[in-house]
Amino acid sequence: QSPFLVDTFSRKHDYLRISLTERCNLRCFYCMPEEGIDLSPEGKILTNKELLRLASLFVRNGVTKIRLTGGEPTIRKGIVDLIGRFNELKSLGLKSIAMTSNGLALHRKLPQMIDSGLSHLNLSLDTLDPFKFELITRRRGHEAVLKALDVALRSGMPSVKLNVVVVKGLNDSEVLDFVTLTKDQPISVRFIEFMPFTGNKWDQAKMVPSSELIARVRERYPSATRDLEEPNETARTWKVPGFRGTFGFISSMSDHFCSSCNRLRLTADGQIKVCLFDPNEVSLRDTMRQGASDEELLSVIRTALSGKKEKHAGMNDIDVVTNRPMILIGPRRSHV
Ligand code: GTP
Ligand code: 5AD
Ligand code: SF4
Repeated sequence: QSPFLVDTFSRKHDYLRISLTERCNLRCFYCMPEEGIDLSPEGKILTNKELLRLASLFVRNGVTKIRLTGGEPTIRKGIVDLIGRFNELKSLGLKSIAMTSNGLALHRKLPQMIDSGLSHLNLSLDTLDPFKFELITRRRGHEAVLKALDVALRSGMPSVKLNVVVVKGLNDSEVLDFVTLTKDQPISVRFIEFMPFTGNKWDQAKMVPSSELIARVRERYPSATRDLEEPNETARTWKVPGFRGTFGFISSMSDHFCSSCNRLRLTADGQIKVCLFDPNEVSLRDTMRQGASDEELLSVIRTALSGKKEKHAGMNDIDVVTNRPMILIGPRRSHV
């Protein structure tokens, strides 16, 4: 048997996304329904000890990158210490600790997080306009997010990315402004196609295909060229010559990237999810709480992985009815 987590399509899974909480301090319309969601009772959420046990098991089986997500990961109690504990897994083969955050509660904690081992930050910011920020997130806080971005950029972290979910008629007019940000800042802006999840009122007419955005950017910046991507990158990256940063397109809907998928997800309530768009889940929490050994847990993980599909057949194939809303998955990429 392979020492790695390999599926039936020979994809090696070395990237684990861990959701630390179902809670969030924003209410982004594309992520959760207006009426909110039913949260799991606290007792169903993985404890720090359980998280560390599972993370260690994954790392010993080839995971080299952990990304912390939510909900909003920064609101989990003791997050800084937890990052420090994950950092200890570097002696077992873990190479990087990343986080995806909305930035609202980040600027004060970020320096400590970096000291504890956080190296990669993806910040969600869909608009440069405070009024639109409130429309999208149903909350205030634009200034706090900009502050977090500033702290991140000054910190010298190896990677700061900005996630922009593009919604037609709402923020698609800001695409060039975001590209302009890359002129003086060493930042990777990524434009993300709006994806359907339970309760987010997705409508194809609200989705702007990446191809359309690329055409718009190239009209303004004809010299823009494709840039190199890291292996397994979900974004197709571009650069304007002479600009410090890059911009990219995550085309989950119009051009899936399933063939290079290397991701697994662990939800805050301890379910393993082998694909963002697959509603099937297996509870590692229950197995663990029934007293399973590491070998038994690993066998549950391998069985779940063996059911991972090659790809999703397209937009019509996405099961938005039985899949979780994005907030409960750990907002992140999908295989369409
Ligand atoms: P890195 O590549 O590690 O920088 O992170 P990322 O871009 O995968 O993660 P991030 O949390 O910043 O998510 C950015 C966007 O990618 C989100 O809209 C996710 O929904 C989307 N995304 C994350 N994981 C997957 C995935 O497995 N499949 C697809 N199709 N989309 C995903
Ligand atoms: N479509 C595309 N991206 C989404 N995200 C959350 N919901 C959606 C959706 N419906 C993004 C967030 C965050 C990232 C982790 O996932 O903006 O940046
Ligand atoms: Fe919270 Fe992120 Fe979902 Fe917005 S997209 S509600 S910030 S988890």
